[in-house]
Amino acid sequence: MNATPDLDAVLAAADDLEPPPEVLLRLLRVASLPSHNRRQVVDVISSDPIVASRVLKIANSSFFRRGCKISDLSQAVGRLGEATLTTMATTCAARMLAQESVPGYGYTDSGLMEHCQAIAIGARLLARKFGDIPTGVAYTSGLLCDVGVLVLGHFVASHEHELVQKSGAFDQREKALFGIDHAELGGILAETWGLPESTCAAIRHHHRPSEAPEAHRTLAFQVHIADMLAKMSDRSATLDGMSYEVDEAWAEYIPLEGDDVQGLLLEVCDEVRSVRAMLNEPTR
Ligand SMILES: [Fe+2]
Repeated sequence: MNATPDLDAVLAAADDLEPPPEVLLRLLRVASLPSHNRRQVVDVISSDPIVASRVLKIANSSFFRRGCKISDLSQAVGRLGEATLTTMATTCAARMLAQESVPGYGYTDSGLMEHCQAIAIGARLLARKFGDIPTGVAYTSGLLCDVGVLVLGHFVASHEHELVQKSGAFDQREKALFGIDHAELGGILAETWGLPESTCAAIRHHHRPSEAPEAHRTLAFQVHIADMLAKMSDRSATLDGMSYEVDEAWAEYIPLEGDDVQGLLLEVCDEVRSVRAMLNEPTR
């Protein structure tokens, strides 16, 4: 059996994680500004040739293409709209964070990023329906909420047996074994990268949103409930999904009725299919 790593070993591994691409950080900062405009989004995307070419490819795909082929981002924003352009660019940039399969949690190939994309879509739907959180902030907070898994996955992989033996929600099992869970670790990474305070808080508290600072609690609950919906819509069984615990205070922050949950789940599934079609990815 492998020796259990101490907290210092986990934090050292977090330090070694490749930082996210600059274009992703800049997109997240622009998306978090309530008054951002098309020009700012286009300027950020233009700064990264890989993301710019992917966005142009999407704008010229059969999903969007109407009329002539376009070759610059100003035309792309006209065809896709600023919100869709930002979503596509952020998703493409976030994919660079996890290009290989993530060990430990049972995600296969691009499974983690697909799961996070579903969380992002659910959080954006909740932000659109309830409260006054900007939808771009909800989307990006959902997209990155499990970033701590990229570090903790390697430790989870070599201690799976001990984690399964423990009881309680999966984040509690992680904390009991490693001294930290993936949500807190993700919050530390987000703070290191200089992400907006609301996004850092939502990532850190996405499994325990009641513990988020009051100012960011609604966002943390939106990501938390979106995570639950994404797990319900996922067909793959992951280690953490089997012991998911819902924070019972959610109804104070998200006024959903029983039937709304079903309706919301269907909306999330529809939108996930639509985004995958835009990105030209196979639908599961
Ligand atoms: Fe999580």
